[in-house]
Amino acid sequence: MKTTGGSDRAKRAAGESAADAVEDGAVVGLGTGSTAAHAIRAIGRAADSGLDVRGVPTSFQSRELAKEAGVPLVALDEVNGVDLAIDGADQFSGPHLVKGGGAAHAREKVVDAAADRLLVVADPSKAAGRLDHPIPVEVLPDARTTAADDVRALGGDPALREAERKDGPVVTDNGNLVLDCAFGEIDRPAELAADLSAIPGAVEHGLFVGMADEIHVGTDDGVEVRRF
Ligand code: 5RP
Repeated sequence: MKTTGGSDRAKRAAGESAADAVEDGAVVGLGTGSTAAHAIRAIGRAADSGLDVRGVPTSFQSRELAKEAGVPLVALDEVNGVDLAIDGADQFSGPHLVKGGGAAHAREKVVDAAADRLLVVADPSKAAGRLDHPIPVEVLPDARTTAADDVRALGGDPALREAERKDGPVVTDNGNLVLDCAFGEIDRPAELAADLSAIPGAVEHGLFVGMADEIHVGTDDGVEVRRF
């Protein structure tokens, strides 16, 4: 799993706080990353104690972790709806998020958007007055150069995400590549989101505009819940 800023204690506080919101009989979207992992482990412990819950994983990583933690799994196309999703973020400003640090944002967006409520789990290092984190854009391999040109035309600076323990680029769970696109401070996230979605060959981008219903911000001393 990639490592990110913020203490593990803060991430655990956030993850466990959101897991407490899972009710008996719930279908839960299981996000990806080191903070969502704490929620998955807590849901697994609750399932061990008798909670009736089914999880919809958002990545290879969350699926494997959920299996290890004992969370019964179900595919998105096997359920009528998702009661809540619990997911991490690389940056948040109000209910707007930048996601995709783990290159899982395409499936995360599908599951998070399908959920009645999205609970984001984060540590304080993810908070921003205005979003300025590079936006990951998952692209079809053949569209890598043309999509990069389109990002430049929008004023962004795209960089192909390189793998750390493999030569060459990161390949997503869907077999695609990721362009990390720096735009500086993002004044109009909804407009940029629409522009990125319109790029031919862009499968999904990591701007989650207005999607968070709650953000559980963990610290070493507790949790602050922001509701939108
Ligand atoms: C994966 C994500 C993660 O949720 C995001 O990168 C946050 O991860 P972490 O909790 O490890 O900081 O979007 O694609």
